[in-house]
Amino acid sequence: MHRPTDSPTTNNDPFIWLTHDHNHILSLFRQFLQHKNTTIKSRINTFEHIKQAVEKHEKIEEKIFYPTAKRTEEVRELGFESYEEHFVLNFLLNKLDEMPKEHEEWQPTFTVLFENMERHFAKEEKEIFEKMRKSLTQEQLNQIMAEIIELTK
Ligand SMILES: [Fe+2]
Ligand SMILES: [Fe+2]
Repeated sequence: MHRPTDSPTTNNDPFIWLTHDHNHILSLFRQFLQHKNTTIKSRINTFEHIKQAVEKHEKIEEKIFYPTAKRTEEVRELGFESYEEHFVLNFLLNKLDEMPKEHEEWQPTFTVLFENMERHFAKEEKEIFEKMRKSLTQEQLNQIMAEIIELTK
């Protein structure tokens, strides 16, 4: 039976929660790219903020979400692809972290990270989340959501 309280929200639907987090992370990137003439100090601070947001998001997916995806036949292969994509994103994140922020390659590398991030999020939302939603029960969704809330405390 469908009750109003069953309506998916960021509180009871992990796919909505993750998509919301994607939008938050992309908005941080866009804000940064719109203010190219920032000082080195603000570049360092803003990048650190973005890095932490991305790492937190990946940790949630890798600890809670993708283990379930790997057990779900329809998205098993896509789940493995996502792990590899995280590896590439982390490579770029760490490169940006270690590179002097005034280096002329810093901004182009940041742009490439943003483009890869957009592609990765779009793939998760359009391919993985939709397929998983169909194969999981509301009880499983609630369990995943409870684990996300626990990890983000
Ligand atoms: Fe991801
Ligand atoms: Fe994601």
